[in-house]
Amino acid sequence: MARKPLMAGNWKMNNTIGEAVVLAQNISNQYEDRWANECDVVVCPPFVDLKPAKTVFEFDRVEIGVGAQNVHWAESGAYTGEISVGMLKEIGCGWCIIGHSERRGYFGETNEDVNKKAKALIDGQIKPIICVGESLAVRDEGTTLDFVCAQVRAAFAGIDGSLAQSCVVAYEPIWAIGTGRTATPEQAQEVCAAIRVTLSEMYGAEVAEAMRVLYGGSMNPGNVEELIAQPDIDGGLIGGAALKAESFIQLIKACL
Ligand code: PGA
Repeated sequence: MARKPLMAGNWKMNNTIGEAVVLAQNISNQYEDRWANECDVVVCPPFVDLKPAKTVFEFDRVEIGVGAQNVHWAESGAYTGEISVGMLKEIGCGWCIIGHSERRGYFGETNEDVNKKAKALIDGQIKPIICVGESLAVRDEGTTLDFVCAQVRAAFAGIDGSLAQSCVVAYEPIWAIGTGRTATPEQAQEVCAAIRVTLSEMYGAEVAEAMRVLYGGSMNPGNVEELIAQPDIDGGLIGGAALKAESFIQLIKACL
């Protein structure tokens, strides 16, 4: 794999501050210096846990990044309940997941919203992790590649190639999230390759080859090796298996 892998833990709505500090500390305790060169490691806790997790990693001087799970595109203003890029920046948050299927499904996040969030994050120099993925209905219909590639095009609309490079795309088939049902390595590779072709059509082969495409959806220590062995899968966005230090570390080790 020429691209440096990225392993990002999506904690979703789990862990109070106290629990987050314990988990961050357990991950940090197992940090090895070679991670810095061989694999980018990021945890994406709930907003309130960002600063505490960041503090643990800073105190331990380990290269583990923190990311948010959502952001608003406006700089500030009357958006009750929302968090801005500037607020995330101040915490030292280097990454942000956007367009997760749970946000699209439960909170009505649209492709247009994802695009606005991506632009705001890029402006603020926070790296977007842009999630795309099809439902089981779309897969059964046989239109997965069209559907996912349209999501990619919409997310990157109006974003220049030099800026797109800071983004990561995470392919997460909705039917594989939290279900224990993983996409086969071939299924995941097929879609991740199509995503890269789309990026190449938009930005040229050089940019597309430099960008990371992750797989997410029930990734675990038992299936990680064969997934990341695929040529177009550059790491994982991990939910359930990122909530325990032991399994998260095992996933990271698969990338070293
Ligand atoms: P999962 O979640 O690993 O628990 O399937 C992945 C995600 O939703 O990012």
